[in-house]
Amino acid sequence: MAYAAFRSIGAYVPKKILTNEELSEMVDTSDEWITKRTGIKERHIAAEDEFTSDMGVKAAELALERSGLAKEEIDLVVCATISPDYFCMPSTATIISQKLGLNNIQAFDISAACTGFVYILSIAKAFIESGMKKNVLIIGAEKLSSITDFSDRGTCILFGDGAGAAVISATDDKSEAIIDIHTGSDGNYADLLMTPNGGSGSAHDALEQEAAGCFMQMKGNETYKIAVRTLTKDVVEILKQNNIKGEEIKHFVPHQANYRIIKAVGDALKLSEEQVVLTVGKYGNTSGASIPMAINDIYESGRLQSGELMLLDAFGGGLTWGSALVPFSPSK
Ligand code: ACO
Repeated sequence: MAYAAFRSIGAYVPKKILTNEELSEMVDTSDEWITKRTGIKERHIAAEDEFTSDMGVKAAELALERSGLAKEEIDLVVCATISPDYFCMPSTATIISQKLGLNNIQAFDISAACTGFVYILSIAKAFIESGMKKNVLIIGAEKLSSITDFSDRGTCILFGDGAGAAVISATDDKSEAIIDIHTGSDGNYADLLMTPNGGSGSAHDALEQEAAGCFMQMKGNETYKIAVRTLTKDVVEILKQNNIKGEEIKHFVPHQANYRIIKAVGDALKLSEEQVVLTVGKYGNTSGASIPMAINDIYESGRLQSGELMLLDAFGGGLTWGSALVPFSPSK
C-alpha cells in the first residue's frame, strides 16, 4: 500500500503591511482592542493587480523546488480558497497550474474556508493511498482583502492575504506517512460566517444592488465559542485515537484566527509555548493559507526538522473543522 508523505513547504506574503494603527484611522477601533482580543498586530495586503493565483504560484514554486521533484512529476493540483481569482470558473487551481507550466493534469479548487488546508491535505492523502496519484501539489491561497468590508470593524481587523503550498508524495515507508486526518462540518451554523450574495442563493437584482453582500460577514462571538469547543474536542480525539501524547507533538500548528482560541486549545492539551506555532500577530487570519504559511515560518527559521511530528488543526466557515497528525518527511 502507498502512504502519503508531507515532503515540502513554501509560502508567499505580499509586500504591503496594514497595521492596527492604520486600521484605527479607517474604523472605530484601536491597536489595544485588536491586540487584546485577537493577538493581531498587522497583516499583509496584496496589490490591486496581484491575484490569489499569483500568490499561490509563488508559494508553489518554492514548495516544488524544495521537494526536489521535476514539475512534470506532479499529477494533481488542488487549491483551497474562498477568494478565488474568479467566482465559479475558471478555478484558481487551473490558473496556478497554467502559470507553473503544469499542463494536462487534474486541477480543482475546494471551498472549506479556514479549514481548507486540512481538507486538501486529506484529499491528497486519499488520492495517493488509493494509488490514483503519486505527487500532489496542494495550495492554500487567499486574497481576503478582496472580500473584506473595510467599513466593518468586526471583520476587517482580522483578515490578511497570503499563500502557502506543500508537496505530498507517495512512499512505501510507513514511518514517513501522514498518520491521520479528521475532518467535519455542520451546515446548521452556515450563517455564522458567510458572503451572502454572489451565488445561486441570491436574486440577480439583489446581486447588482447590494454589492456589499459579496463581502464576508461573521457572527464573531458565536463562532469563537464553537471554535474553542469543537477544536479542543477534535484534537483531544485525534491524539487519543492514535495513542499519541501531547508531549510527542513537536509543533502544534493551528489555523491562525485568534490568539485566544489558539491559547485555549493549547492549554487544553497542556502544550508548552515552544510547541505552539504563532504567526497570527504578523499575518492576521489568512484563512486556507494560514496553516501552510505558519509551517513555512518554522521551516525557514530552522525550527522544523525532518521526522518531527506536527499537529495541525483548523476551524472555519461552513462551519468546517479538521485536524491532522503529520510528520515532516522531506526527501532523503
Ligand atoms: N474594535 C473595537 N471594538 C470592537 C471591534 C473592534 N474592531 N469589533 C467589535 N467590537 C466591540 C463590539 O461591538 C462589542 O461591543 P458591545 O459590547 O458594546 O456590543 C465588543 O467589542 C465585544 O464584541 P465581541 O464580538 O463579543 O468580541 P469578541 O471578544 O468575541 O472578539 C472576535 C471578536 C475577535 C471577532 C472574536 O469573536 C473571534 O475571534 N471570533 C472567531 C473568529 C474565527 O475563528 N473565525 C473562524 C475562521 S474565519 C473563516 O473561516 C474565514
